[in-house]
Amino acid sequence: MRRAMSSPKTQSDPGQPQLDLFSSQTRPDENARPGPSEDAPDTAGEHLNDGDEDRRAAEISFEQLPDDTEARLQALRAAIRFHDHRYYVLDAPLISDAEYDRLFHELIRLETAHPALVTPDSPSQRVSGEPLAKFRKVPHDPPMLSLGKAMVPGEFFDFDHRLTEELGISRIRYCCEPKFDGLSISVRYENGVLTQASTRGNGAVGEDVTANLKTIRAVPLKLRVPEGEKAPEIFEARGEVLINKADFARMNEALEEQGRETFVNPRNAAAGSLRQLDPRITAARPLTAYFYEVGQTSLTFGSHADKLRRLAEFGFRTIQPTMALGGEEVGRIYERFLATRHDFPFEIDGMVVKADDMALREELGTLTRTPRWAIAWKFPAVEEESEVLAIDIQVGRTGKLTPVARIRPVMVGGALVSNVTLHNEDEIRRKGVMLGDRVFVRRAGDVIPEIVSVIAEKRTGSERPFVFPDHCPVCGASAPRPQGEVDRRCTGIDCPAQLTGRILHFAERSAMDIQGMGDKLAETLTSCGLVRSVADFYRLTKEPLVRLERMGGKSADNLLEAIRKSKNVPLRRFIYALGIRHVGEATAKALAARAGTLDVLQNMSAEELQQIPDIGPEVADAIVRFFAEPRNQEVVRALLAAGVAPAADTSESSASTSADGPFAGKKIVLTGTLASMTRDEAKAAIEKRGGAVAASVSSKTDMVVAGEKAGSKLDKARQLGVRVVSEDEFREMLAQ
Ligand code: IVH
Repeated sequence: MRRAMSSPKTQSDPGQPQLDLFSSQTRPDENARPGPSEDAPDTAGEHLNDGDEDRRAAEISFEQLPDDTEARLQALRAAIRFHDHRYYVLDAPLISDAEYDRLFHELIRLETAHPALVTPDSPSQRVSGEPLAKFRKVPHDPPMLSLGKAMVPGEFFDFDHRLTEELGISRIRYCCEPKFDGLSISVRYENGVLTQASTRGNGAVGEDVTANLKTIRAVPLKLRVPEGEKAPEIFEARGEVLINKADFARMNEALEEQGRETFVNPRNAAAGSLRQLDPRITAARPLTAYFYEVGQTSLTFGSHADKLRRLAEFGFRTIQPTMALGGEEVGRIYERFLATRHDFPFEIDGMVVKADDMALREELGTLTRTPRWAIAWKFPAVEEESEVLAIDIQVGRTGKLTPVARIRPVMVGGALVSNVTLHNEDEIRRKGVMLGDRVFVRRAGDVIPEIVSVIAEKRTGSERPFVFPDHCPVCGASAPRPQGEVDRRCTGIDCPAQLTGRILHFAERSAMDIQGMGDKLAETLTSCGLVRSVADFYRLTKEPLVRLERMGGKSADNLLEAIRKSKNVPLRRFIYALGIRHVGEATAKALAARAGTLDVLQNMSAEELQQIPDIGPEVADAIVRFFAEPRNQEVVRALLAAGVAPAADTSESSASTSADGPFAGKKIVLTGTLASMTRDEAKAAIEKRGGAVAASVSSKTDMVVAGEKAGSKLDKARQLGVRVVSEDEFREMLAQ
């Protein structure tokens, strides 16, 4: 499908190292088709001209394309631009994907043959450039304001009253728009060409995400300027990057299938995707963008509705406003928005009401951070009543035990809800949920349902407390909850729930380095029962392998050879391959250097382990527990019996690496949610630079990296006077 056709440049560049675009998240959604559902509210389509020049180019058939290279390139680009707009902005394609691909391939063929003729606004340039070390800062002029809120009708009517009083107008003309629940951005065009895109940041200064934004096909690289007009010198389109609900669901399904962590909601997914340092990752996510304001510009507008028409004309995705005369009418429109909120293809969390007349806006002015001429009238959260029938424990690929409440199915805000995650043990306790309880269920952020509270008055006495298991319900291994953490995790090395993930980890290049072991093969080997634990690798023979789908004699031989070669492995890599919690490459190296042999390591006490620099009580505890688990001992024995011979690597010195830089030899604690990377990625980045990541803050901690919603660890760091750095500072340090 067209979506998958991001830059063939990156896809086919042989010099490019293999990159797992979806490492923290997803694969490109081949079927993703952005756009409103059939009965969605008014989108921009009908308000647009067809972009005269591009349309004319699009009418030419492939055979009629000019022969002259430059003219042909120009015609191809115009045609592709036209069809991108039809497809990604209007959701109304005019040609088949095959026809589109034919045009695109021709463009790439010509540009490859004539690299000097590539232009920055060519549709082939959506994914380009190398990963960044960090985002550059971009000042916003005018600043990107936020909006005052009305949570209840009275607050909106107060706002309307204030305006009518102040302006002396009895009924103000308002534009009503959805309040998009995404990430605000500003995109700058100079003489019609996209030159810079930035996030909102704190409103005054944002981050330069130009390369990432260019990968979003709904954003024009070049403004569609009507014939006879000149492109404005400066034009800043402001709007919201988001992921449509249907694309979000497809993306999470794919992640689920791959056993990867899913996103909590479209907003987080969009934010995480836009703030990637590598635009190829962004390109693989089904992002789109809607626009609703104009920042700096050489154009002038009489009204907001004019602005939106202009945005649509220039080729931006917009939702045209619903006009209202006076507050009362706004109230009626709000009711309609509320009733149809789930019909929007994207999540909305309210309605934005803006005075339409630019002269009135001018007169009203702005406060420090919010304009006085607009307000966000939020929707109330949707809550329904249900009953907890059971609480099941799910075991994820990383061994995490997650309690899921099975509830009596109930419609909550347009979706049937029958399973609700309870996150962890503490959450169950905090909410006081018992089996058989009547509960209020809410769909927060529209997607993930949650239990808001127990309806204590409805208890009958027959409710039973839920006892959280301390063993894995899938394999029976112990599932301890490390100190300072909220989750219990299964420690079974052969737990079927974690098997594929563990196998992939075991085979990783920095672990046993079994070449050719990819996602698909690992899945196949586990699902057909050939591999039930990592030790089974060394028992594989050719005969059953060749019977597997897509496995010929040659690949079977190669695989067996790779497995054989992996037997002579440095101890540190073997330790890392075992997948002991908290034991990354740096820790494995330190352990190998201190223990010298596997046998010594297996018998070390927590106290002894803590003598090793950078190993704190939690890591020590995880190691001791791992080797204490009889099933793990069995697998390790089987590996050794099969001829795996981990040998101490005497060239490795002790734990703290000699690397320079701000993390070398430092003990770092991560807390809160990082927007630009997963915790595992952050940990890997620190370890790669010679640092160690600890789970809890103590006086030995050198630094705490505090993401969003950082909690008790941050408080503790402050109490102890430990250095605290923000995500931005952290990223700057990584870039050093
Ligand atoms: S106008 C000067 N319109 O909501 C006013 N903002 O809570 C600038 N938002 O930062 C914003 N939908 O990110 C505007 N239709 C809409 C919006 C919208 C969502 C976001 C925007 C803003 C935040 C304020």
